[in-house]
Parts: sequence; structure tokens; C-alpha cells
Amino acid sequence: MNNTHEAIEAHLGEVRRFAPSAQFAATANATVTIYDEADADPEAFWAACARKLEWATPFTKTLDWTPPNATWFSDGTLNASVNCLDRHVAAGLGDRVAYHFVGEPEGDTRTITYQSLFEEVCRAANALSQLGVVAGDRVAIYMPMIPEAIVAMLACARLGAAHSVIFGGFTADALAHRITDADCRVVVTADGGFRRGAASGLKVNVDAALEQCPQVRSVLVVRRTGQEVSMHEGRDHWWHDLVSPQSPVHEAQAFPAEQPLYVMYTSGTTAKPKGILHTTAGYLTHVMTTHSLVFDLKADTDVVWTAADIGWVTGHSYIVYGPLCNGATSVLYEGVPDAGGKDRWWRIVEDYGVTILYTAPTTIRTLMKWGDEFPLAHDLTSLRLLGSVGEPINPEAWMWYREVIGKGHCPIVDTWWQTETGGIMATPLPGVTATKPGAAMRAFPGISIDVVDQDGQSVGNGGGGFLVVNKPWPGMTRGIWGDPERYAETYWSQVPGRYFAGDGAKLDDDGDLWILGRIDDVMNVSGHRLSTAEVEHALVAHEAVAEAAVVGASDETTGQAVVAFVTLRSGFDASEVLVDNLRALVAQMIGPIAKPKRILVTPELPKTRSGKIMRRLLRDVAEHRSLGDTTTLLDPSVLSMIDDLMRATPSDD
Ligand code: WT7
Repeated sequence: MNNTHEAIEAHLGEVRRFAPSAQFAATANATVTIYDEADADPEAFWAACARKLEWATPFTKTLDWTPPNATWFSDGTLNASVNCLDRHVAAGLGDRVAYHFVGEPEGDTRTITYQSLFEEVCRAANALSQLGVVAGDRVAIYMPMIPEAIVAMLACARLGAAHSVIFGGFTADALAHRITDADCRVVVTADGGFRRGAASGLKVNVDAALEQCPQVRSVLVVRRTGQEVSMHEGRDHWWHDLVSPQSPVHEAQAFPAEQPLYVMYTSGTTAKPKGILHTTAGYLTHVMTTHSLVFDLKADTDVVWTAADIGWVTGHSYIVYGPLCNGATSVLYEGVPDAGGKDRWWRIVEDYGVTILYTAPTTIRTLMKWGDEFPLAHDLTSLRLLGSVGEPINPEAWMWYREVIGKGHCPIVDTWWQTETGGIMATPLPGVTATKPGAAMRAFPGISIDVVDQDGQSVGNGGGGFLVVNKPWPGMTRGIWGDPERYAETYWSQVPGRYFAGDGAKLDDDGDLWILGRIDDVMNVSGHRLSTAEVEHALVAHEAVAEAAVVGASDETTGQAVVAFVTLRSGFDASEVLVDNLRALVAQMIGPIAKPKRILVTPELPKTRSGKIMRRLLRDVAEHRSLGDTTTLLDPSVLSMIDDLMRATPSDD
């Protein structure tokens, strides 16, 4: 967190503040009184939001809180897919576009209305039923960013089965682990997807993963790229054979408010990823409300583009459930930002008249690095609001986003939240809250957060410490799949009775909130969460490696980059080939995003007298900073030796 902290510190002296424009305030969905109203009775605030969903049985109870377990609206029943689709069609909005799909290959586009999405979800629900999927099951989804991925999610929700979407960049091993952990019996996938101009293979990874998962009985495969795949007789079915001929009618059943909706795996501080569980009504209430108020959504005119992958929570909440609950029109883009030219993004904004753009700072920095000429070559006047998520945004990138993309008139919402929180927790509200470049500003109405010290005492204005949430909120995770103890321990024990997010934060003199980043052993690379322990685990799986220590070192473009320090077993020597092999091993075991940017082979690692590896000091080394306090080290000379080595070794990129 040090570097972000320093950058923000350096800026705090000259912080700029942008008051909400009168133009925005005049038509904003949120009003200036909303904070006070929600504060006066947060449960009543959320209950009113929840009543905007369609219930089969209305709820009478709002919150039931037995720390660390909360339930919301628990005696109500509803169906998530009905809330996303049926009710809009019934209201006469069937012709409204739900998704403008833009495939990576030029010209590969589809327009999907609410009516057509509804029919396809019904067909898929019928097909999944035929494969034996029933309420309470888990279904794995491993897909590119194509409409069928969303159809599969909603079909599961329609049946009361939880989906577990696994990011398409993960490898067979990572896939197998997640399928096993959640005990999925059915997998929905595609032959592959288009990425950087080439067809990637997905089915091939599923085949490899399923060698380790004999419990999986059915695989449903979308033909996307047309590449050759092997189909396992009796187990594998083509989507066009099984789904397309089904009836477009499916009578949805209502399920309890707390019916599991999905499990999403994310990295924690140990090598084992956590299956974060979200349930139905509280989650939908949270994402529907935040999507409407944070983005000032006008569902009948806006075109929203959440440029994220549906394999991560941002996609779940703000490409799928939030926008669909609100009846919004979204852009769904399959590919990388520069497929077909460095102006591809801006062409999409222009072609579809995107009004609300939401993405991660790492992408903003990349687009900024490519140069202003690309956005300037396009008509971006449709844009009226810009959002940022996933990591701290540096003030330079924020200002570029505001000036070059937003032409100085689009409010910028810097939204802090996590896989575990389900939806946005801290953010300015457009038309209501002032903004400052790099600050998340304040908690969303009805959410109570604080910055506290080691003892759980509020630090107050001008202070820094741990970011905590004081009370349960509707979108809060209901636990870690199969591991209630880890849930209680990870989130609710560091600051007793309060949710500890793992982030450091600061309140400035005005009381506005600045998120400083992770203070645990979790890295944030290009907005992707990675565990240092997970990468270390992969490295020591190599026969040559004795010990490994991994740190996230600050990086201009990706926010943090993975830097690894390894010691070798006797009989093995450092070589370029070895380093390449280690990188490949990490990519194979976790995924290409986890590949270390640098691997330094060193004779020893810096340890405390009790034998704990001092990652904090290794981070100083990796960031070429002067070495901090080394007095707790067993042998401080080890660290200076590594530092010399680091400076002497040319960087690999
Ligand atoms: C971690 C959560 C939220 C969806 C995408 C990431 C960091 C997130 C911000 C922000 C500073 C942020 C935190 C958090 N983070 N948003 N606006 N400013 N940091 O979800 O993979 O669960 O990661 O991302 O460190 O703990 P995730």
C-alpha cells in the first residue's frame, strides 16, 4: 500500500474538488436528502429498495443478524430470472434492447432484446432441466464474453441452481479445483472465444479438467469459433442441438429470498481460493439500487457499458443482474481494447451511443498511454457519466478520464467494493456528492463504513487505518462455500463484530474517503485479485525451487506486478531457461494473469528470527526503494545482497 499512499499523500496538499454540476443535480436519480433518510433507518431504506423487486410472496422481515451471519428479507419468495426478464416483457418492454453484443471480430454483432433474451433463457432452462439440474445444484460456467454466458447464468437462476462462473483465462487445473470445490455436476462452456485476433480454446481445458472431476455428468458446449473439439459421447452436448429446439416457454418457480444465486471464486491470503456465496433477494436489491443511483441510470435512454469480464464480480453485478433488474440496455464486448485498432473502444462508444462507461484504472491507464489521438478521432458526446472500479485510481488517470474522455462535464464515480460485498459500497453519487481525483468519497446510502486503528477505534478526519463495514448490508456475502470458519475468521475477527475488508484507507480533513489498497497478502494486478500464497504455491511445485516469496510491486500500468524471489534446491542452478519454465508453470497452474513479471533467483530469503519471510522488505527491494527497518531480520545482510542482485539484474521485460 505504500506507493499508492505516497502518491495520494503527495496529492493531498493540492487536491482538487469538483462540485456536482447544476445540470446533473436537476435530473439526478439521487437527491441531497438521501444520505440522511437512509441513515435515519437503514433497514427501512433497504426494505423500500427491495419492494421494487417483483415478489411471489412479499417479505415481512427485513434483517436477521446473528453475527457473523445475516439474512435479508428471508420470509419472501421470488425468482431472480423473472426479475431480470419476465416482468419487463410483461410491462411491454420486450422490444427494448438488453444487450448490444460486439464480438471481437469486426462486424460480428448481435442485438438482443428483452423478449429474445427471455425466450433463450427459457430454452436453456428447459435444456438444463433435461440434464437433471434442479434447485440447489451448482453449475459451472466457463465461457467467453458472449450472450450465451449470460443466458446460462439466468437459466440457472431460473431453476434455483447456483452458477459458478469461472473466468475464461483460468487454466484446466484452476477450473478443476473450482468445479470440485463447489461440487458442480454440469458445466456450460464453448469451443473457444476470440481474444487478440485468435481463437482461444476453452472446451479443451474443460476436457483436461474433467479428468480430475468424475462427478461431472454433462457438458453443454456453444459453438463460437468453429474450431475442432472432441465431444465425449453421452456427456457432451452442443448448445444448438440441445438448447435451440427447446420450447421458449418455461414456468418459473419462486424460491426463498436466501436461495443461493452464485458462487464466485476469488483469491484470499492463502493458496486456496475462496468460493464467495451470494444469495438472491439481498444481492439483487443491492445491485439494482446501486446501478440506478451510482450511475444515475435512465433505463429508457441510457446505453451502459460496463467494460469488465462476466467471469468477475463486476460483470455479474453491473453487466448482468443490476442492469437487467433495472431494464437497462448494455453493451457486451467480447475482446481486448485494441482488437482491430487502438481506437476500437471509442468506435464502440460512438457506434452505440454509450452514455455510461464503467471500467478499471488499469484499462484507463493503458488507453491513456496509447495517446489522445484515438479518443479524439471519435464523437464521444453521448457519454454523460464515467465510472472506475477495482483498484485505486491515480489522480493523473482520473484527470485524463475526466478531461479527455468526459470533456470535463461527465461526473466520475470511483466505486470501492469487493467480490464479497456483492455491490458498490463507497462512491460519490452523481449530482449530489462532490468528487476528488482518487477518492471514493463516502459510503453509499444505507451502508455504514469507518476507518479504524488496531483497536477498532475510529481514526477520525485526517487519520489512516483499516477499512471496516459496521453493519450488515443486503449484498453481503453469505459465506465461503463449505468453510464457515474461514468466513468468520477472515472477515469478522480482525476487528471484532465488524467486517474487515483487507484494505487500508484514509479520511482526509473533510472526512472524505481515500482507499489505499490491500494491506494483506493479496495483490491487485490489472484489477485482478491474486494471492501471493497461490503464486508461491505454484513456484514451489517446481522441482528446482526450495522456497519462494512473492510480492506485488507497484507498476505504472497494471497497478501492481507480480515479483517473485526464489531459492533453489541444491543441484539446481539459476538460468534463463529455469526462469522461463517457472513463469510457464505459474501460467499453467493459475493462469497467464498470475505470471510473474520478474523472478529473481537468490541464495537466501530475508527472514525474521522466528523464520517468517519479510515480504514487506522484499516489496521495498522490488520497488527500488531504500530499505526500511531491517532490525527484526535474522541476518540483515541477506536483504542488501538481494537488493544488489535486483539492481544488477536487467529487468525481463
Ligand atoms: C479489491 C476487491 C469490486 C469489483 C472488482 C474487484 C480493490 C476495488 C477499488 C477502488 C481502490 C479498489 C480493493 C478491494 N478495489 N475497488 N475504487 N479503489 N481499490 O473485486 O477482485 O473482489 O477485489 O479491489 O483492494 O479489496 P475484487
